[in-house]
Amino acid sequence: FNIDNVEPFRPVYHFTPSYGWMNDPNGMVYKDGEYHLFYQYNPYGSMWGNMHWGHTVSRDLVNWEQQPVALARDTMGHIFSGSSVVDKNNTAGFGEGAIVAFYTSASDKNGQIQCLAYSTDNGRTFTKYQNNPILTPFDGLRDFRDPKVFWYEPQQKWVMIVSADKEMRFYSSPNLKDWTYMSSFGEGYGIQPNQFECPDFFELPVDGNPDKKKWVMIVNVNPGCMFGGSATEYFVGDFDGTKFTCDTPKDVTKWMDWGKDHYATVTFSNTGDRVIAMPWMSNWQYANVVPTKQFRSAQGLPRELSLYSEDGHIYMASTPVEELSTLRNGTSNKLEPFKVDGKHDAGELIDGNKGTYELNVSINPLNAKKAGFTLKNSKGENVKIYLDLADKKLVMDRVNSGLVDFGEKSAPHAKENHDNRKTNAINYVNDFALATWGKLPTDKKFDFRIFVDKCSVEIFLNGGKVAMTNLVFPTEPYTQWEFFGEGGTFEVEAAEVYGI
Ligand code: FRU
Repeated sequence: FNIDNVEPFRPVYHFTPSYGWMNDPNGMVYKDGEYHLFYQYNPYGSMWGNMHWGHTVSRDLVNWEQQPVALARDTMGHIFSGSSVVDKNNTAGFGEGAIVAFYTSASDKNGQIQCLAYSTDNGRTFTKYQNNPILTPFDGLRDFRDPKVFWYEPQQKWVMIVSADKEMRFYSSPNLKDWTYMSSFGEGYGIQPNQFECPDFFELPVDGNPDKKKWVMIVNVNPGCMFGGSATEYFVGDFDGTKFTCDTPKDVTKWMDWGKDHYATVTFSNTGDRVIAMPWMSNWQYANVVPTKQFRSAQGLPRELSLYSEDGHIYMASTPVEELSTLRNGTSNKLEPFKVDGKHDAGELIDGNKGTYELNVSINPLNAKKAGFTLKNSKGENVKIYLDLADKKLVMDRVNSGLVDFGEKSAPHAKENHDNRKTNAINYVNDFALATWGKLPTDKKFDFRIFVDKCSVEIFLNGGKVAMTNLVFPTEPYTQWEFFGEGGTFEVEAAEVYGI
């Protein structure tokens, strides 16, 4: 894996494969101090194809060490996405504490069928189960994939959720091998029409109260993103071991992240009370043609999930995991508080800027209608991040962010989504050159935590109540920042840049 990096847009602190194509993170599991990240991988080229499970391991969710391929494509088909569990009680008989991985075998001949493989050496090698497949669709459905498996403690059984076109199907098993259908959820919920992919399901306390827990179903929809292409939505409700009952009204869509490059997001299993998710940082509209060669795509930063209530709804917040604070390299640039009426040039972002830094900004909008800042380089390429207080939106505008002209060409199917997008998105130009927005929380002040890493900008507002992940391809790093407002004065109560 000793391949010299020749890619100006290769992220420094996000996981990328040294060479080849990567899409969904999958099969993530924590065991014996190691976080295992498996991922959809093509070792033979930097576009989608020949799906394998790649593998990388971390002890801190920050530094990743790439491993040999975990599951190679075989005669049954591609190895599509799925999940892993630790079989502590040896219910399957592969060994106590075996890592059992579930994936979809996909081929024209067999369709999409669920298979398993197990590892008794902490994920270093896997054996594919001899009686695969373990589950096929009862109705011959074509889109039937991405199994998520978890242990349901109250009834001492395993549960599997499979995305099945416009719904998710629930199955149960005593031994991880024999599966019985229980129920379905999804038809008519959230963004429709669509095709659900990569479901995940977990329980979390609401507002930090351990006595009030809710179940969350994450599903990835493609197309369906309101800015075009791929995105992640979630539903909140209850689970009785058989059936998911959703609290979210059918016509309400809750987005996990409001950017355009947050997809196939699923969580690590076996992490105790922590629920840690990781997105693939791209969008099927243009993923195959973004301007890299040696590799394509990075995974987003790991995020810790929590639930909070607001306005009679329960929402999910995503914050960067605390381990990421170790990234700061000791250089920083702190601004004294100031007020902005119109424009305020804040000069250089940070010394020795290589396009990798973290920004923390606290804004009190006072009476401004818009309040925010621009990150820019000497070529005039820039990203604008601002609060639109009249429309109650957080906006990130990447129209002039650098290289943007590779969207439309790559994805004829992107057209399907045009109508939906035009009514919702602002500054529509093409598939990549646009602004994304997210609904502001009801708070009066706004704390931004933003991570920039060569070709990505991840925004977490007010403890992750709004998350927004977008790619950018500036031809040189953004080095300057400038604050701007409209319709009144706002105050920057704190602003600091940390080098990474
Ligand atoms: C999501 C997805 C999954 C599938 C995988 C194939 O991005 O389409 O549904 O398993 O990618 O690579």
